[in-house]
Amino acid sequence: MMCSSWNDLKAQCLTCKKCGLCTTRNNVVFGVGNVNSEVLLIGEGPGENEDLQGEPFVGRAGQLLDKMLNYIDLDRTKNIYITNIVKCRPPENRDPSIEEQGACIAWLRNQVFLIKPKIIVCLGRIAAMKILKPDIKITKEHGVFYEKNGILLMATLHPAALLRNPHNKPGAFEDFLNLQEKIKQICANTY
Ligand code: URA
Repeated sequence: MMCSSWNDLKAQCLTCKKCGLCTTRNNVVFGVGNVNSEVLLIGEGPGENEDLQGEPFVGRAGQLLDKMLNYIDLDRTKNIYITNIVKCRPPENRDPSIEEQGACIAWLRNQVFLIKPKIIVCLGRIAAMKILKPDIKITKEHGVFYEKNGILLMATLHPAALLRNPHNKPGAFEDFLNLQEKIKQICANTY
């Protein structure tokens, strides 16, 4: 059953015990941004800083993400919403397991149902595999737009991966410029 109230959905999610990550978390990281956005960004899962602060992408990777977003006039305080595939931190920042992703995905589906974004950007391989296609090769297919149920989907490299491999930054930057073009084409002129 989809929840039709954002506040009720959030309240339920904050007490979630559907998987083992609830035993090690400090905070459920539900998401941040404007719920009326036409652009939704989806990462993998909270890291240490996110778990402590209860907000996605607030560490070093998040600072890089904000910089790239701001360059194309996107801002988590204004015109986008940002969340993750799993809402609780996997210990030691390991990849969330298939079971943990499966347990958590209903929250994201309900968020998508309520936000009704026109464009979804998957940040990194884990989100791209879950949302776009299980066999995606992100190094080859980043920046490509796919259409699914009336929503445009695109994957780009994870900002944490860009910190590890800065030579990939220009490619990711190009994805964001493509995103900006797409937004100009299909989103309201508030962008
Ligand atoms: N990496 C993610 O995928 N999500 C966050 O919220 C932070 C880091």
